[in-house]
Amino acid sequence: MCGIVGYIGDDQATPILLTGLEKLEYRGYDSAGVAVYNGTHLQVAKTKGRLKVLEELIHNGVDVPGTVGIGHTRWATHGAPSNVNAHPQVSGSGKFAVVHNGIIENYISLKEFLIEKGAKFVSETDTEVVAQLLEYYYEGSVIDALIKVLNRIEGAYALGIICEDDPEHLYAVRKDSPLIIGLGNGENYIASDVPAILNRTREINRLEENEIAVLSRQGVEVYNTNKERIPKKAEHIDWDISAAEKGGYEHFMAKEIMEQPKAIRDTVKPRIKEGKIVLDDVKLTKKQLEEFDRIFIVACGTAYHVGVVAKYIMEKHLRKPVEVDVASEFRYRTPLIDDKTLVLVISQSGETADTLAALRESKKLGARTISIVNVVGSSIANESDDVLYTWAGPEIAVASTKAYSTQLAMIYMLTIYMGDLLGTIDAVHYQYYINELKALPEKVQQILEQKSKIQYLASREFNSKNVFFIGRNLDYAMSLEGSLKLKEISYIHSEAYAAGELKHGPISLIEDGTLVIALATQNILFDKLMSNVKEVKARGAVVWGLTIEANKERIKKEQVDYEFCVPQACDMMLPSLAVIPLQLFAYYVASLKGCDIDKPRNLAKSVTVE
Ligand code: F6R
Repeated sequence: MCGIVGYIGDDQATPILLTGLEKLEYRGYDSAGVAVYNGTHLQVAKTKGRLKVLEELIHNGVDVPGTVGIGHTRWATHGAPSNVNAHPQVSGSGKFAVVHNGIIENYISLKEFLIEKGAKFVSETDTEVVAQLLEYYYEGSVIDALIKVLNRIEGAYALGIICEDDPEHLYAVRKDSPLIIGLGNGENYIASDVPAILNRTREINRLEENEIAVLSRQGVEVYNTNKERIPKKAEHIDWDISAAEKGGYEHFMAKEIMEQPKAIRDTVKPRIKEGKIVLDDVKLTKKQLEEFDRIFIVACGTAYHVGVVAKYIMEKHLRKPVEVDVASEFRYRTPLIDDKTLVLVISQSGETADTLAALRESKKLGARTISIVNVVGSSIANESDDVLYTWAGPEIAVASTKAYSTQLAMIYMLTIYMGDLLGTIDAVHYQYYINELKALPEKVQQILEQKSKIQYLASREFNSKNVFFIGRNLDYAMSLEGSLKLKEISYIHSEAYAAGELKHGPISLIEDGTLVIALATQNILFDKLMSNVKEVKARGAVVWGLTIEANKERIKKEQVDYEFCVPQACDMMLPSLAVIPLQLFAYYVASLKGCDIDKPRNLAKSVTVE
């Protein structure tokens, strides 16, 4: 999704903005621009296309001099990707320049209002309304004008603003869209995400909803919309900078796939103390847990697929009804939720607009909420009653891999923890599961070491036009994720089906050479799944069978075309192993097809609009 960077200091702003925007490229974008105060007026340069195009246009910043400025990478929502719709957007006289992430929902009525007052609009964006509105309300004080604008606009926004009349300040505000302030020495920054400014400073402030930051060279002051000062405590970012860089890999996705043993270990290890799972972050009592009559899991995309795994696992081990829904459906379907419902929200970024809205809706209805989030201090983490952080580190590639694996690990831990409290998991199984949890990183590592086998398979099948993933129970949940990974980065059409559903329609799509990836890690359903394999083979499918090592000989007898075996693990945790070859397969296929793996077309890392 869109990226924002802003700078005020003594260095030239444009190169800093361009470098910062580069670090945000992973969020996905289709145009880019900067606005800088050049000593007399605001100079704007923007263009459709990649940052490279902008850099060439302005000779890496030489053509846009000045020491205060804002930059943006846009992911089109209102108006097609174009030069004129790119940000910054400026007001009629050019006095204000604005960069914006999010959506101004009432922009049409505001635009009509401003046109009536004589404003002339040049773009199709909702953002231009903010710039024009600032100018309309401006009577010599930017902050006063901004407060008036905030009273009129509805929706989600992170805004960076500069004004020609006030070149000693840079303004920022946010609501439902992330924005941080970077604190430097004689210079300060704004950014939509930490990597954008990590090479300049490690001290940051996080803005709360509708807090207005006024940045000067000397410091940053934060106000509420009543113009009262809000004291802020600086937060130190201690990520290793290389965590946000490729570290020798060709793609972030490859690096992140390989980082999974560490990510799982980092998530699990601190939470196992003296043989017990300790979730300090969850303050639920046994009594409260017993009183919940259902669990709802809400998320989007890959995080939703973790929810599907969780439904199978939690229902089986906690003996409570578990519902799972995609957030964009959940938020508009009047779900049956009250104070006896536990809502579990899963999100890597912690900023996904639909997931955040679903969380708020659940709270409004009285539910207790727990979130599983990767980004510390994100909106979902802040607003849920309890938060369980996954310690995956920054995930840069658009396609989620290590965040997914750590979310799964969190689900296992939460299930074992709750099962123990509820008495649905006995002491023997409790111990067994803890041992299995501890062993997971090593087993994932063993699979990663066999990546060349998957690379070979990809080299044979990367020209497939359609791929089907089938499985039952937890293997069905894995099929969903395998299929999403493949289609989003390789652009191959793929579908995931509960294997038993094949006969009810999709089998008609199987023809000579169609690749079917059959997941059969759940021992108890192995034979059932093999019946489905026979059905598709009889119709000409090429089959890749994925099972556990104990079933190696059995799957060979089925005469599958390719087989891959993952190490043995308890059923509950097999998804963590089965997903690795599926991620690798998607990665290698996309690589062989020459796709833009880390930034697939039309996709954004953090979906902060509805
Ligand atoms: C796919 C992928 C997306 C995200 C989804 C939710 O690989 O990454 O489907 O899982 O957009 O994002 P978060 O987890 O940030 O809420």
